[in-house]
Amino acid sequence: MANTSALRSQSGVAANILIIIFFFSFVLFVVCDANYSFRYIDVGSYGSSSDSVFGHSDFGQMLLNNTLDLPDNTTLPGTTSPAMPFVFVGDEAFALGEHLMRPYSSRGLSIARRVFNYRLTRERRVVECAFCILANKWRFLHTPIHLKLETAISAVKAACVLHNFVRERDGYNFEDSLSHSLESHLPSVVRGHRQGVAVREHFTAYFMSPHGALPWQLEAI
Ligand SMILES: *[C@@H]1O[C@H](CO)[C@@H](O)[C@H](O)[C@H]1NC(C)=O
Ligand SMILES: *[C@@H]1O[C@H](CO)[C@@H](O)[C@H](O)[C@H]1NC(C)=O
Repeated sequence: MANTSALRSQSGVAANILIIIFFFSFVLFVVCDANYSFRYIDVGSYGSSSDSVFGHSDFGQMLLNNTLDLPDNTTLPGTTSPAMPFVFVGDEAFALGEHLMRPYSSRGLSIARRVFNYRLTRERRVVECAFCILANKWRFLHTPIHLKLETAISAVKAACVLHNFVRERDGYNFEDSLSHSLESHLPSVVRGHRQGVAVREHFTAYFMSPHGALPWQLEAI
């Protein structure tokens, strides 16, 4: 199911976004593109250990062993160097990696780091919206699913496929996304933490530069 072509969003950060959703007896891990379509899903039961969800998925393993066919490094809009890697955006539950950005977590952050966190959160809303659209169209996802585990997993997969089909046919309807609740959780360590630190610093500086800044970002943090 993996389609890893990273799409560029307006801000220049590749808008492929990760989320892990916990249902009652299984988990759904999705990678979403900037058009609220799912590019990868993994649904299954991994016991109670949330940090194994990401690590057990083919996607997580391929990110770990660097075999995802990601586009080459490229410069950010308005800049001529350096060439930056394409990145996925996750929340605090994910570990920083060369191709996986997560928010800064310490307290007392500088303005630049708070802006980075704001920009990352803004990107991440796409996947949260995608999940609301999914759950609001296929409302059984809001409730305990009274099916055998295997059947329930098939139903969730089918809903995800239909979600992409409807996205293509109907486009995006804002009202679809108005109510939602979800939880996301821990993956295992991702390759390239050290490079990840450098990549995140670079995005942080870029978001404060004239080419990378949004006019309202300082009011939003
Ligand atoms: C990387 O992980 C994928 C998914 O588990 C696996 O199919 C592939 O063989 C692995 N490649 C290497 C080079 O380890
Ligand atoms: C892409 O950029 C990252 C971060 O600067 C760097 O670690 C990596 O080696 C680069 N990859 C290539 C193929 O140049």
